[in-house]
Amino acid sequence: MKRSEINAIIRDADAFLRAQQFHLPPFAYWSPADWATKGEEVREIVDRELGWDITDFGSGNYADTGLFIFTIRNSDPSPDRAIKNRLYAEKVLICDPNQKTPLHYHWFKCEDIINRGGGTLVVKCYNATDDDAFDESTPVSVNIDGTQKTFAPGELLRLQPGESITITNRLYHTFWGEGSRVLVGEVSQANNDNTDNRFYTPVGRFPQIDEDEEPLYLLCKDYPRYYRP
Ligand SMILES: [Fe+2]
Repeated sequence: MKRSEINAIIRDADAFLRAQQFHLPPFAYWSPADWATKGEEVREIVDRELGWDITDFGSGNYADTGLFIFTIRNSDPSPDRAIKNRLYAEKVLICDPNQKTPLHYHWFKCEDIINRGGGTLVVKCYNATDDDAFDESTPVSVNIDGTQKTFAPGELLRLQPGESITITNRLYHTFWGEGSRVLVGEVSQANNDNTDNRFYTPVGRFPQIDEDEEPLYLLCKDYPRYYRP
């Protein structure tokens, strides 16, 4: 992705979030120059990869296959983490109509995907077979807002604003907006996007960036280049 495209997505997403009365934490708006002045006190933001995370999954077509993510909080999943009982993460996502997140599952993370407002969120799920294919023969049993429901494999589930679905381990899932842009919440266990995504078709979770202009704000993968405590 070109940096200019990422900057434009950030500006557009920020305006949408503000219009939805969803407010990001202050570190969202630290400039690259601000980052160069930060010390050890912000180590958690870097190590947990909090912040802007915009990806086209290597597709070259963000509008078709892409996802806007801002990680608001995340925890250290290792047993020697500093805050023992903090095992949770929270993200805000934006899904445009027909903008798909590639089918994937998580080995460890259980996540709730929440339609926080806007259009309809369409979710499609399959159980994984032992050899990581789609299981086309077993029904999908999921919890939707405290109610256990069963669907045919690959059936389209439509979540309206306020509705959510719990995605359990090794449940393949893909989702996209329908009708209009959707503000999506994700509440989950501690999250490691470097190791806990099993994409059905291998994709690049984080994009290669063509630096055609300066970053407006840093993506989580930019921190090592700017943060020198
Ligand atoms: Fe997921």
